[in-house]
Amino acid sequence: MVTTATQKVIWRNGALVPESEALVPINAVGHASVGAVFEGLRAYRDTRGRMSIFRGLDHMKRLHASLRVVRLPCPYSAETLVDATAELLRANKVSEDTYIRPWVFIGGVVRTLSQKQPPERTETVIDMWPSKSGLLTERGSRAGVTSWTRISDRSMPPRIKAFSNYHNSRLAVLEAGVNGYDQPIFLNDRGTVAEGAGACLMLVRNGSLVTPTLTSSVLEGITRDTLLTLARADGITVEEREVDRTELYLADEVFLVGTGFEIEPLVVVDGFTVGDGRMGPVARRLDRIYHDAVRGVDPRWSGWLTAV
Ligand SMILES: Cc1ncc(COP(=O)(O)O)c(C=O)c1O
Repeated sequence: MVTTATQKVIWRNGALVPESEALVPINAVGHASVGAVFEGLRAYRDTRGRMSIFRGLDHMKRLHASLRVVRLPCPYSAETLVDATAELLRANKVSEDTYIRPWVFIGGVVRTLSQKQPPERTETVIDMWPSKSGLLTERGSRAGVTSWTRISDRSMPPRIKAFSNYHNSRLAVLEAGVNGYDQPIFLNDRGTVAEGAGACLMLVRNGSLVTPTLTSSVLEGITRDTLLTLARADGITVEEREVDRTELYLADEVFLVGTGFEIEPLVVVDGFTVGDGRMGPVARRLDRIYHDAVRGVDPRWSGWLTAV
C-alpha cells in the first residue's frame, strides 16, 4: 500500500495503489460498461486554500442507490467512501479544484460473468483529476433539442448513474455537434423536456425558476437539489413540473446544472436566442450563491462540505 504519492494514487478496494499498478485484465468487461455504476463529484478549494468535498455523502448515497437498482453488492458504506475520497485527495496532495470519479463494477473476467446471477464480487475504485471551475466567469453554450429520446424508467432508468446510460447521451452529443450546437437537450418518451446529456435543466419564466420533475426521465441531480435549496433560501420562486419544448423558446433564461457543468447558461436553443443572448440575471445570482456554498464562503451551507 502506498500512502504518500510519488506518482498519482488511486483508491481501489480499500487501499491506495499507484496508478500504474491499478490494472484490470484485458478480458474483464465489467469495469466501465454493462452493470457498472459511478458517481461524479467535486472537491473545491476554499478562500483560505483548504480543500473540501462538496456533498460527498449525498453522492455516495446516490452511488448506493444506483447499486441497489442494478443489484450489485458493495462492501463499502457511503460514509466509508467519503472518508476514502478524503484520504485519496490527501495522498495525492490535492490543492486545486478536482473532479472525483468513484465507480463500482463486476469483478472477474468475461467467462465468469452471468447476467442472471447477481455477481458475488465487485470492485470499487475512486479516481480523481484536476478540473477547473467555471464559477464567476462569463459563459454560455448553444443547445439544440436532440432527435434521440431520453432513456426511460421503463427500459434504462435515467434516475441512476449507470455507465450504460451514457450511450444515449453520447448519441445526442454527437448529433448536437453535427448540427452545430454545443449541447443537446433531451425530451423524454412523453415528449416533455428531460435533461441534458450530463446535466439537469432549469429555466426562468415569469420570475420563477422551473425544472422538470424527478419523474421526467432525469438523473436525481444533486446540483439540481442544491440550486433549488439555495434559490428557495434566496426568495426565488421554484417550480418542479413538466416542461414543454416550446417553453424553452419563451424562457428568459435556460441553463444546464450538474457537478461537471456547474451552471452552464444556454444562450441559444434551437436557433432561438435566449434572453439577450448572454448569461442572465438569475443564472448570475445562482452562480454567486452556488460559488459561496461550494467554497465555504456562506456558513449556512457548511454541512454540505467535508474537509479534506
Ligand atoms: C445525465 C445527467 N443528468 C444530470 C446530471 C447532474 O447530476 P449532479 O448534479 O448530481 O452532478 C448528470 C451529472 O452527473 C448527468 O450525467
